[in-house]
Amino acid sequence: MIPHAFVQDLLARVDIVEVIERYLPLKKGGVNYFACCPFHGEKSPSFSVSPSKQFYHCFGCGAHGSAIGFLMEYSGLGFVEAVKDLAEQVGMQVPEEAPGAAQERVREQSLTELMTQAARFYKEQLKRSPVAIEYLKGRGLTGEIAARYGLGYAPEGWQSLQAAFADYADPKLLECGLVIENDQGRRYDRFRERITFPILDQRGHVIGFGGRVLGKGEPKYLNSPETPLFEKGRELYGLVQARGTIRDSGTVLVVEGYMDVVALAQFGVANAVATLGTAATPHHMQKLLRVADRVVFSFDGDAAGRRAAGRALEVCLEHLADNKTVAFLFLPDDHDPDSYVRAFGADAFRQVVDHATPLADFLLAQLRQDIDLATAEGRARLVHEAKPLVTRIGAPLLRLQVIKMLADAAGFSQIEVEQACGLAAPRRSERRFDDTPPDDGFAARRFSGQASSGKPFRGERRPAVPRQPPRQRPATPVETLLKIVVQHPTWSARLPVDLLPADSAEGLALIAVTDAMSVGDLPTQGVGALLEHFRDTPHAPILARVAVANEETPFEDGTIEPLLNDTLNKLQADALSREIERLTAQDRAGGLDPQQRRRLAELLMDKQRLRVRPKVTDS
Ligand code: UTP
Ligand code: MN
Repeated sequence: MIPHAFVQDLLARVDIVEVIERYLPLKKGGVNYFACCPFHGEKSPSFSVSPSKQFYHCFGCGAHGSAIGFLMEYSGLGFVEAVKDLAEQVGMQVPEEAPGAAQERVREQSLTELMTQAARFYKEQLKRSPVAIEYLKGRGLTGEIAARYGLGYAPEGWQSLQAAFADYADPKLLECGLVIENDQGRRYDRFRERITFPILDQRGHVIGFGGRVLGKGEPKYLNSPETPLFEKGRELYGLVQARGTIRDSGTVLVVEGYMDVVALAQFGVANAVATLGTAATPHHMQKLLRVADRVVFSFDGDAAGRRAAGRALEVCLEHLADNKTVAFLFLPDDHDPDSYVRAFGADAFRQVVDHATPLADFLLAQLRQDIDLATAEGRARLVHEAKPLVTRIGAPLLRLQVIKMLADAAGFSQIEVEQACGLAAPRRSERRFDDTPPDDGFAARRFSGQASSGKPFRGERRPAVPRQPPRQRPATPVETLLKIVVQHPTWSARLPVDLLPADSAEGLALIAVTDAMSVGDLPTQGVGALLEHFRDTPHAPILARVAVANEETPFEDGTIEPLLNDTLNKLQADALSREIERLTAQDRAGGLDPQQRRRLAELLMDKQRLRVRPKVTDS
């Protein structure tokens, strides 16, 4: 664990412009610097680096972060390595880790070395095994592709690895899953008489193996167990080899098997990766959508394939963005990508990938599966079952499209479906505020990122393709406050912490930032540092989203103070209204004691006062 304080010192010392400049040619434009984004293919620069905020952000693909984040994303480094790399550049010494942590790292390093040594051994063995070579040839693979994927062969015999390691009794061999120990404490190799597929992490280190039997046998594939190096739910087989093609084509293809990846590469389809015998996880989704604009999942055409597709669909909903597409490819019944490309060729395969079923269509088809839309009950059920899925779609415009599709299919209006899904009606507090707008309501609307015309507020730079669509509703007070404090954390000193509602993720993030500022934990050197402070906390995704929104539609400095005051008034008015409402309801039900009645009268007067309050108050 690297201490928070060190990370903040480091970020105060480095300049993100200098860091990124070492990798990309930056051009100055106004107060920021620009380049073509390294994280997605583009011809005109929409990647911007802000020296004042120490933050980079791509208007095209949404990539963003601090100098540390850039190194991680660009070089595929882990957090700790990125910090070390950066520290080295400015001559800072990363503080000694806790003794345990240092040992941990040394141990991981030595495990990686063992895995690499094993991979080398298996590769050597492949050269010496005519049956294994024959098997791979029989599956249409050339030596070139076998080399590219580091394929090897674990020979027969129980302890072949004795030849690869000086000390077969080394406990680390057990720890990294290369050997197994039976009840009697006797050791033997995990992989025997199998083709080995090394699994690499982002930096190209061997972290695990898949092993296939030659011909028939059970289990067909054997995988490394989960080890300190290898966590199945995070890794994608073939990503290192596919990375370049994915970047160039903007598309990543997700298949089920090792052989699918390798066979596709053999046929020149080099952008495929595989999940490792597990369903796609949220980690996978995040990684996939980060490396590509289009993710195509391929599944076998059978019932199991459809079930797996359904699971993948559910996992990706939250991670969707309107500039990304996800599609599902169902191959004919008895085919997988390997057999398909072999039977019909690469062009035919590329064509079916291009025509894969878009996520929205698949979603609708899944929902309609067992529903009879000829009946009112069926049409109601369609929307009822869609609700939990629709509300999770992270891409606002796509969500709207799905709602329209549902409305069409179920014979409802769009508004009716939105209401049924809990998406249409503004929250009561907002509606009430809008019903009785104070004379400065205009400012609040305008600077919450939306003019009343629905056009985005013109910031210092408009994205060529707006990533954030016009919002469906005005920002809530909490959202506005969060936007302000992410842009200028010092304003948080003005927030009354006891008034901030803790009933939403945004509210909690706002409270967290305010708290951190109040105890002096939080740096004030830009949003990049703020995001680093909250890395790996539940607030991180929300703060990142707000930081990006601030880049795209920033508040003008001069407007922040009045906006802050308006918003605080609104927040206070909301709190009052809620209490008034509660007491009034209780009154109607016949039960206010004298004290409560007095309280109600006070509240009503307060509310009156709040409404006639002059526009800008400096409290
Ligand atoms: P498949 O059974 O579809 O195999 O498993 P495949 O990819 O078509 O393999 P070939 O063409 O027969 O060689 C797909 C994936 O599921 C995992 C592996 O990751 C495999 O690549 N799997 C399968 C296992 O982990 N264990 C098994 O016994 C079978
Ligand atoms: Mn297969």
